[in-house]
Amino acid sequence: MNKICLLPGDGIGPEVIASAREVLTALPIQWDFIECGIGYGEYQRSGSPLPDSTIHEIRHADAALFGAVTTPPDIPNYFSPVVRMRQSLDLYANLRPTRSIPHPSSRAGIDLLIVRENTEGLYSGIERVEEDGDRAVTERVITRKGSERIVRKAFDTARQTGRKTVHVVHKANVLRQTCGLFRSVALEVAKEYPDITMQEMLVDTCAMELVRAPEQFEVIVTTNLFGDILSDEACMFVGGLGVAASGNIGVDAAVFEPVHGSAPNLVGTGKANPTATFLAAAMMLDYLGEKEQATCLRNAIGVCISSGQVTPDLGGSLTTSQMTEKVIQRL
Ligand code: NAI
Ligand code: MG
Repeated sequence: MNKICLLPGDGIGPEVIASAREVLTALPIQWDFIECGIGYGEYQRSGSPLPDSTIHEIRHADAALFGAVTTPPDIPNYFSPVVRMRQSLDLYANLRPTRSIPHPSSRAGIDLLIVRENTEGLYSGIERVEEDGDRAVTERVITRKGSERIVRKAFDTARQTGRKTVHVVHKANVLRQTCGLFRSVALEVAKEYPDITMQEMLVDTCAMELVRAPEQFEVIVTTNLFGDILSDEACMFVGGLGVAASGNIGVDAAVFEPVHGSAPNLVGTGKANPTATFLAAAMMLDYLGEKEQATCLRNAIGVCISSGQVTPDLGGSLTTSQMTEKVIQRL
C-alpha cells in the first residue's frame, strides 16, 4: 500500500490533481490517498498557506503529488508555500526531465534531465534593503554540503538511467567564490564516477547551446536560479507548460508537481492539460519503485498525444476530463 499525500492547491490545481488521482487509481497498485491544504485558498480557510499538518502528512507519506498555488496580491506575512515546503522538508534536488513528445510542436531526439539545487543559491531568502531603499542586496549562499549532494544526485541519476555525460553548469569565471566552490566540489565528486563523463559549461553558453542543439545534453546539474531558468527554457522544445513535470526530492520526503502555475484564466473551462501532472505522477511511480507502471503510463500518454487526443494547448479539442478518460482507456 502506497500512502500518497495529494496537494490540490488553487486554480486548476484541484482539476489536474483529480485527474491524476483517477489515472493512478486505474493502475494495478493499492493506494491510500490523503488530501491536504496548501496555497491561497488554504490561507483563507485556516490562516496559513502551508499548515504544519500538511508538512506532517507529506513527511509521513511515501510521496506527495502537488497541483499548483496562486500567489495573492501583497499580503503582509504571507509566504510562498512552495519555497517553504522545499525548505521545511529539505527537498534539495529538483529534477526536471525534458523529453521529446510525439507532437509537431516538439523537437525530436531530446531526453535531458536538469538537476537543480533547490534550497540555497540566490534563493537563499537572505535579502535586505540599504541606504534608505537605494540599494538592495540578496545573498547567494553556496555550501559544500549542498553542492556535494546535488552533484552526487546528478551522477547517481545518470548512472541509474544509463546516461553517459553530466554537464556541470556554472559561472565560476565571474562568481569566483560561490560558483567557484560549486565547481570545485563538482570536480571532486565527478572523480568518483569514472564511468560518466563530466563536462563543464558556463551558464550563458549553456543557454545558447540549449537553443542551438538541445539533443547534445543528457544531464545538466546546476545551482538554484540557473536551473530554474534553464529548465523553463528547455521545456519549450517539447510541448511547453502543459506537459512539463518535476520532482522535488529530499532524504525522507518527495513532492512531484507539474511545472505550470494555477492558470486562473483556465479554471472551470476544461482546457487545463492534465499531461504535466500525469508525467509528474509517472516520476512519482519511478520514485516508488513502480518502473513498469510508470512506463505504461508514459506510453498511454504518448499514444494519446500522437493520435491528437489532447487538450487545446496541444491543438486538440478534448477537455481535461475527456483526455483523462482517454489515457485511462489506453492503460
Ligand atoms: P501559469 O503557469 O499558471 O500560466 C501560464 C500560461 O500557461 C497561461 O496562459 C496558462 O493558461 C497556460 N497554462 C498553464 N498551465 C496549463 C495547463 N495545464 N494546460 C494548458 N495551459 C496551461 O503561470 P502564470 O499565469 O504566470 O501564474 C498564474 C498563477 O500561478 C500566479 O499566481 C503564479 O504565482 C502561480 N504560479 C504557481 C506555480 C506553482 O504553484 N508551482 C508556478 C508558477 C506560477
Ligand atoms: Mg520556474
